[in-house]
Amino acid sequence: MTKIKAIPGGLGNTAIPFLDEDTGMTDSISAIMTADHHHCDQLLASFEGRVAARDWDQAVCDGQGLAAALLDHFAREEQRLFPELLAVDPRAGGPVQVMTLEHRQMRALLADLEGAIGKRDADECLGLVETLHFLIQQHNAKEEGILYPLADQGLAAHAAGLLDQLRAS
Ligand SMILES: [Fe+2]
Ligand SMILES: [Fe+2]
Repeated sequence: MTKIKAIPGGLGNTAIPFLDEDTGMTDSISAIMTADHHHCDQLLASFEGRVAARDWDQAVCDGQGLAAALLDHFAREEQRLFPELLAVDPRAGGPVQVMTLEHRQMRALLADLEGAIGKRDADECLGLVETLHFLIQQHNAKEEGILYPLADQGLAAHAAGLLDQLRAS
């Protein structure tokens, strides 16, 4: 990954993209975290397909990958992004509280899903996937529409270092 720098200039309180000088690509907290949402969506769809096909060996593997990716994403938000944002923008307090509560609900669903996979119960798995998918879509829409734009604005000054911490490893 090449070095990322903030675009200089008095852009005030607008969202500031970050320009990779080598590739000319722009980057931002929104871009990184939204791409991660899409990656998790793909893992969820793949897992659902394996369960629907009763391909349990692959479903177990995909289910573990899905849970790991989601839990890692939540951890990066709760341990890195949210505290940084709360420190600079009090408007984020309400949304962060709601997002953290929803993470807890999704963690509980993932635990239930692990149990259903263990029982090879396709109907229970698919029901849980449907609920999880619905929650994720609602949750991600709020983050992408409200929270990440606030983060792009409020954290522009220290975003270069933060961006590296927020990337999925
Ligand atoms: Fe989240
Ligand atoms: Fe997120």
